[in-house]
Amino acid sequence: MKILLAEDEITIAITLRDALEEAGHEVVTAETTGDALAALETQDPDLIITDVRMPGEGGTALLARSQEQDPDRPVILMTGFATIDKAVEAMRNGAVDYVQKPFRNEAMVARVATFERVRRLEAENEALRGAHDQHPAFAGIVGQSPAMREVFRRVQTVASSEATILIQGESGTGKERIAQALHRMSPRAEAPFVAISCAALPESLLEAELFGHEKGAFTDARRTRKGRFELASGGTLFLDDIDDMPLPTQVKLLRVLQERTLERVGGEATIEVDIRVVVATKVDLMERVAAGQFREDLYYRVHVVPIQLPPLRERDGDVPALVRHMVARFGGGRAYGIARSTMNQLERYPWPGNVRELENAVQRAIALCGDGTELALEDLLTTDPRWRGANRVPEPVEPLRAVLKAAEREHLAHALEATGGHRTQTAELLGISRKVLWEKLKEHGLGTDGDGEAGASR
Ligand SMILES: Nc1ncnc2c1ncn2[C@@H]1O[C@H](COP(=O)(O)OP(=O)(O)OP(=O)(O)O)[C@@H](O)[C@H]1O
Ligand SMILES: [Mg+2]
Repeated sequence: MKILLAEDEITIAITLRDALEEAGHEVVTAETTGDALAALETQDPDLIITDVRMPGEGGTALLARSQEQDPDRPVILMTGFATIDKAVEAMRNGAVDYVQKPFRNEAMVARVATFERVRRLEAENEALRGAHDQHPAFAGIVGQSPAMREVFRRVQTVASSEATILIQGESGTGKERIAQALHRMSPRAEAPFVAISCAALPESLLEAELFGHEKGAFTDARRTRKGRFELASGGTLFLDDIDDMPLPTQVKLLRVLQERTLERVGGEATIEVDIRVVVATKVDLMERVAAGQFREDLYYRVHVVPIQLPPLRERDGDVPALVRHMVARFGGGRAYGIARSTMNQLERYPWPGNVRELENAVQRAIALCGDGTELALEDLLTTDPRWRGANRVPEPVEPLRAVLKAAEREHLAHALEATGGHRTQTAELLGISRKVLWEKLKEHGLGTDGDGEAGASR
């Protein structure tokens, strides 16, 4: 663990630091409260050991600041006999402990080890909790945030119905995983789950894939083939990127949904299919309807029960659990560590590619960390250059309107200067009417104090 040791008595500081380093910890030392507070901002320790009495405000100020930053970070206060006062007593809670001076360094190392063990158990519990109070169909789908709990609840509610389900969510939010869970939870769980993406397949191919074809239906059709609808018989058909389905195919899909029958391409016979359909999209389908790219009747047919998957940036607290899950999944049995500060950065990053992007990041960091066991922030966050700066906060970007307005004002002032304040000439130069010029000058508070037409009459 990374430990911040704040102690002004140099002999205690040195021997304790050595003992902690011996036990495998990384130790940052500070001799004054000021130094310690500064170190707290830059070092992001996992644990703090501080003397209560120190030059400056003392250890309790450090404790207060640490709890503001992270209430779960353990703080061990070292107190002289005379300073065990009520204040310290009152502050005792799960993460605060105190050790009375003088103490043996071994005792302190043991305390630290206890905190480390507790922290590991908590992390494991958190992961287990995720798995246990959920339906087994959600195994491997991590999510403790209110937003994801809501999704799980909804999936559970609709799983046993036969209704067509629409799953909406940005790329990489886990739409296919949720569709699979829905299937596993449904009465159709024992029958096949068949998935097909409607993206990137031309109309004729997509139809042959979905509906199957008879022998000789087209040049390459040497034998009769069942389509995905038939292959999913008794089970669930997952139609991904439904918004990409060509309009003529949409008509045919609508018919399958309504009548549960179809004909193979090049075939005459009407075939009955028994399937549950789940569709997914990354876009706002209603917009596609408005644009004439998606049939309204099909929209209402699939929109009966929509499930909205939140983007990762809206899943409060899910990133650490997902990272641990992925480290366990891709780590090949090796225990990788991740610094608290790194985890904080991962939580602040907006993850435009959602869970898939996070998954790729963890895999990359594991691959790049070589013999080490600590995953590096640079390997995890390589995507967006804005997130690689010193403080890793995106650069502030001014609203476009403000930038344009400032540029306009500057340009107006420049033009006025060029004409010596002559309004008519200025308007001509700028290619606008005098009325518009006058309004703009007024808006920007430029030279409207005098007679508006003075320049022109001169
Ligand atoms: N909640 C989750 N817990 C664990 N892994 C997840 C979770 N959500 C998604 N994943 C993983 O992230 C990856 C992307 O998930 P999935 O393919 O289901 O997303 P998608 O929304 O269908 O993406 P796309 O829109 O690109 O098709 C998969 O490897 C999946 O296993
Ligand atoms: Mg998908």
